[in-house]
Amino acid sequence: MSPPRRTPRAPVLGGRLILPSVSLSLLLLTLALAACTGGVSERSAGTTSAKAAAAPLSWTHFDTPEPPAMTPALATRGKQVFSENCASCHGETGQADGTCAAFLSPQPRDFTTGVYRFKSTPGSEMPTDEDLFTTISIGVHSTGMPPWQFLLDEEDRWAVVAYLKTFSDKFERFGSGTPADLGAEPGSITDEMIANGREIFQKAQCAKCHGETGYGDGPSALTLVDAFGNAIPPRNYHKAADFKRGHTLRDIALTIHTGNNGTPMPAFDDALTEEETWDLAAYIMSLAESRFAGGGEPAAAVLGAHLGDPDVVVKLTERHWNFIPNEIRVQQGQLVRIDFQPTDNGLGVGHGFAVDGYDKSSFMNGVMVQRPKSVTFRADKAGTFTFYCATQCSTGPLHPKMNGTLIVEPAAS
Ligand code: HEC
Ligand code: HEC
Repeated sequence: MSPPRRTPRAPVLGGRLILPSVSLSLLLLTLALAACTGGVSERSAGTTSAKAAAAPLSWTHFDTPEPPAMTPALATRGKQVFSENCASCHGETGQADGTCAAFLSPQPRDFTTGVYRFKSTPGSEMPTDEDLFTTISIGVHSTGMPPWQFLLDEEDRWAVVAYLKTFSDKFERFGSGTPADLGAEPGSITDEMIANGREIFQKAQCAKCHGETGYGDGPSALTLVDAFGNAIPPRNYHKAADFKRGHTLRDIALTIHTGNNGTPMPAFDDALTEEETWDLAAYIMSLAESRFAGGGEPAAAVLGAHLGDPDVVVKLTERHWNFIPNEIRVQQGQLVRIDFQPTDNGLGVGHGFAVDGYDKSSFMNGVMVQRPKSVTFRADKAGTFTFYCATQCSTGPLHPKMNGTLIVEPAAS
């Protein structure tokens, strides 16, 4: 159960700041490379595993700390944080025109419009400082927006919140909206709630966009565009990893209540009671889960499959930009298959795997939550090797821990 979301105490920042001049640091360039090496819009025929569904990053379950005062000094610090970490996508002037933007789908947010989507406040009300902090911390699932809690400390994240607010005068004009109160979360999800939710789904005409069976294929689906004129598909409820906010009951209920401002996803805060909202969320969640019943699904692609059946299969995962396990031990001569299933989508381009000193064709790239991959290679050289994330940005400062050790023990003679 999550604590009720707090209303902001901090005063709205006074005075506008001078916008930064364009400068590309090495980091941005690395990011640009990472985002520009493909895989960004590869969102097709993927599979999702039970593991990924079990550990969601949830917007509503994030433990958001108390905000500091949004002072001009904090915003000045935020400007630097922004320039170094955010501008490659969101643009130095916040207009979503960074070097990577053209390669991202969906597009990064244009902050000068003051249109925010992920928030505790309904409809077009402005987000609270905590809302911005939460989104920045957990990222936006299944998009290029990274979870910055693993990359920036708390103070830097608050600083960048202060700076984001200088891009649009709507924060000063309207102030933060009032966070929604959905009451207590139901203790458990019952069949009755799900059945009731199914009826509400019909009555509220969610199917027009999301489709009768929730596959995101309703009659209006192909015609939808967001406030920036970009095509925007309604969510396919059966792919839990695609829920941008997370797919816990509270995440889904909050989305139904607040809507996604700037997208065709309406707010149902006036149309549905609290109880109806929870029931409807339970129904949506039941669809998301059904796909994961029965455990993991087979890997989407096996590179090096022509080499034959492996002698050893290593299950490799990634969590918070670390490989698990980070040591792999095999025998020389063995045919090794690495089944790689990360727990997040990296910077929207996925993660990779390669072994330094081994055949460079035995590598994987663009491995995502919905796109697990496998690679098979012959451990023909004995010794200690480094394996690493083969997606460009990994070797830079962003993924310093995305590596591990491969120990190939010499064959007994
Ligand atoms: C690799 C590209 C990339 C980088 C780097 C990046 N973002 Fe994003 N960001 C995105 C994308 C793409 C979206 C839009 C997601 C969507 O529309 O669903 C987004 C969305 C957001 C949103 C959501 C706004 C809303 O509508 O609620 C916020 C806030 C945000 N970014 C802040 C930041 C901050 C702060 C940084 C730097 C610390 C940053 N982003 C760095 C790609 C990026
Ligand atoms: C007019 C079209 C439309 C209608 C009607 C509609 N939606 Fe949506 N919905 C969307 C779009 C588009 C998105 C994707 C928004 C995005 O990607 O930011 C979405 C996203 C969602 C999400 C996913 C949020 C996330 O975190 O990714 C949920 C849950 C959802 N809708 C539930 C519902 C329910 C329940 C109803 C009916 C009460 C409904 N929607 C009615 C268009 C619609």
